[in-house]
Amino acid sequence: MTDPVARSDNADHLGFRHRHLLGIQGLNPLEISSLLDLAETYVDLSRQVDKKRPVLKGRTLINLFFESSTRTQASFELAGKRLGADTMNMAVKSSSITKGETLIDTAVTLNAMRPDIIVVRHSASGAVDLLAQKVDCAVVNAGDGSNEHPTQALLDALTIRRHYGRIEGLTIAICGDVLHSRVARSNIHLLNAMGARVRLIAPPTLLPAHADRLGVEVFHDMRTGLAGCDIVMMLRLQNERMTGSFMPSTREYFHLYGLDREKLSHAKEGALVMHPGPMNRGVEIDSAVADDPTISLIQEQVEMGVAVRMAVLDLLSRHLDNGGPHG
Ligand code: NCD
Repeated sequence: MTDPVARSDNADHLGFRHRHLLGIQGLNPLEISSLLDLAETYVDLSRQVDKKRPVLKGRTLINLFFESSTRTQASFELAGKRLGADTMNMAVKSSSITKGETLIDTAVTLNAMRPDIIVVRHSASGAVDLLAQKVDCAVVNAGDGSNEHPTQALLDALTIRRHYGRIEGLTIAICGDVLHSRVARSNIHLLNAMGARVRLIAPPTLLPAHADRLGVEVFHDMRTGLAGCDIVMMLRLQNERMTGSFMPSTREYFHLYGLDREKLSHAKEGALVMHPGPMNRGVEIDSAVADDPTISLIQEQVEMGVAVRMAVLDLLSRHLDNGGPHG
């Protein structure tokens, strides 16, 4: 049996020299491509009976999620375990955080236990960056407020590349609640860096100010915006981040912006559909579209999520000190 990952050790992971992965901003196209190449080998490994390769043997990985998560947390846990790390999920709800301990005190406390990598999700934009400045280990941003969610953009890129063989030159629409979406922000950076044409389709109330300065085309009408698109990336309506009223009703929202077969028919023939999950069925996406395996990449995105996170942990571990400042 061949080891799909053995090949990658010889590959030249050209200069991925980052200590942390805090965002897509700051990564260059070469770094993104080499990370995706390594992730490909982890897709192969994860499809084998023996899915383990102990490149993180002896290492400790902590998942610190202050916001709820299914896909991201589970896939970081699996990624760590497949790579042989001791992987611990902090149960934030039963921790001292509920007693008022600050983010930084929590981080410093965990840091004293000498983890090698901490994966953090937090509701405040910039919180993960701040935490990274206070610890000795590598930090991965698993989503900070509406700022960045780099591993989501990387897994989306891997999914796209496997279907089209490239990202450059594709027209990709990101639709819905762009304003509150870290997924949108990370994807805009990544897709622009890799040479795709990015469109945002959303009501004006769900777009960030100066969206037109992000290097994208902006549309307010789904049918017009979808014309000529290769990929339609839908976003969840993030009610938990909304203060005030952003739309008349979810019924109205589905009517105008929900992706159904009719609206999708305005995109390029054979256009594929993505969604980072969790989905609000019947709000931003119709089940008939989401569950059609001939057009929906949603389950494949989840599979790619494990492989991309394995690649991220592997690359970061190559730059870990042996011993760190205490040692
Ligand atoms: C996204 C997130 O948490 O930002 N989900 C995910 O990581 N798969 C998107 C969302 O919550 O809508």
